[in-house]
Amino acid sequence: MNTDTTNQQFLLAARPQGEIKPSDFTLMDAPMPEPGPGEFLVEVHYLAVEPAMKGWIEARVDYIAPVEIGEVMRGQGAGVVIASNNAQFPVGTAVTGHVGWQRYMVTDGKSMPVRALPQGVSLSNGLNVLGITGLTAYFGMLEIGKPGKGDTVLVSGAAGATGSVAGQLARLQGARVIGIAGGPEKCAWLVSELGFDGAIDYKHEDSAARIAQLCPDGLDVYFDNVGGDILDAALANLADRARVVLCGGISRYNQTGPIPGPANYFNLVYRRARMEGFIVIDYAARFGEASQALSQLLASGQLRSKETIAEGFEALPHALIGLFRGSNIGKQLVAVRH
Ligand SMILES: NC(=O)c1ccc[n+]([C@@H]2O[C@H](COP(=O)([O-])OP(=O)(O)OC[C@H]3O[C@@H](n4cnc5c(N)ncnc54)[C@H](OP(=O)(O)O)[C@@H]3O)[C@@H](O)[C@H]2O)c1
Repeated sequence: MNTDTTNQQFLLAARPQGEIKPSDFTLMDAPMPEPGPGEFLVEVHYLAVEPAMKGWIEARVDYIAPVEIGEVMRGQGAGVVIASNNAQFPVGTAVTGHVGWQRYMVTDGKSMPVRALPQGVSLSNGLNVLGITGLTAYFGMLEIGKPGKGDTVLVSGAAGATGSVAGQLARLQGARVIGIAGGPEKCAWLVSELGFDGAIDYKHEDSAARIAQLCPDGLDVYFDNVGGDILDAALANLADRARVVLCGGISRYNQTGPIPGPANYFNLVYRRARMEGFIVIDYAARFGEASQALSQLLASGQLRSKETIAEGFEALPHALIGLFRGSNIGKQLVAVRH
């Protein structure tokens, strides 16, 4: 039984300079919202943190409006409808979507877009494999990377939310998949649990030398989540007609000042290769199709998922900061329900 009388929220307090600090957010107690006509009240169980949030709070990206100072921090969450004046979202419906960093949220389903989760999908997987990062892996790997049987595919940030799904999807297409991740625990997980064919620990190994060693015929697909030196090392090892999928560049998100470009970009010319960026929201019209395919792969056990879960609403800023230190394996979530 819900006994809360207020709604905890995190508001953006300051735009970070360099690394995000906990003081960039303010914890507030807002009045408990009540659903009006056509609206429903969601009790949030999990909130997701994502590296892209850095760009939104710095106001450094142009594909989406920045989060304004004093505004509830933007973020994806999953929860359950606990009061409803909307027949499409009755009490008990499990939903996921744009809920913001708050413990309760009122919406008509469109003003703050949320969708009902398919039967049998857990709330946490609604943010993980069926959330923005799983969808990013799906469209980036299958629509841009297009791995084929026998292709060699390299994925960076491979033990994170997007990379772990992207690598598994390539493997399911019959490709040979090598992951790059920080530390022996993550590398062991990629090979022993997710079935990757090899892993490179970029914190303790020479990435360029190991890519050349593990991929002697070159890379047919490189799925880039990190940019920087690892992107450069991948560019030096492309096969003819390779596809480089630019998904993210976390190694540069905390850098200030001019960011150096990849020195090896001209190998794209020699190898007749292609490098293409994408933003997952461009595929929004096809999220239903992707969710169905991903939930079937989960249900059949062909796709595995993992979450790192921090406990308590107050843990949100630290969980976000932890992404830049590699604290997570799989999807980083925060369990916010008392
Ligand atoms: N294009 C799009 O539409 C789209 C959508 C969603 C996400 N993305 C991008 O996809 C990438 C992954 O996002 P995610 O939400 O799935 O996060 P995540 O991979 O679950 O977490 C971030 C991971 O990045 C790694 N990392 C941190 N600093 C690094 C550095 N300096 N060099 C190399 N690796 C570093 C850490 O793992 P290690 O321990 O291995 O270092 C950390 O676990 C991000 O770049 C994000 O911006 C793009």
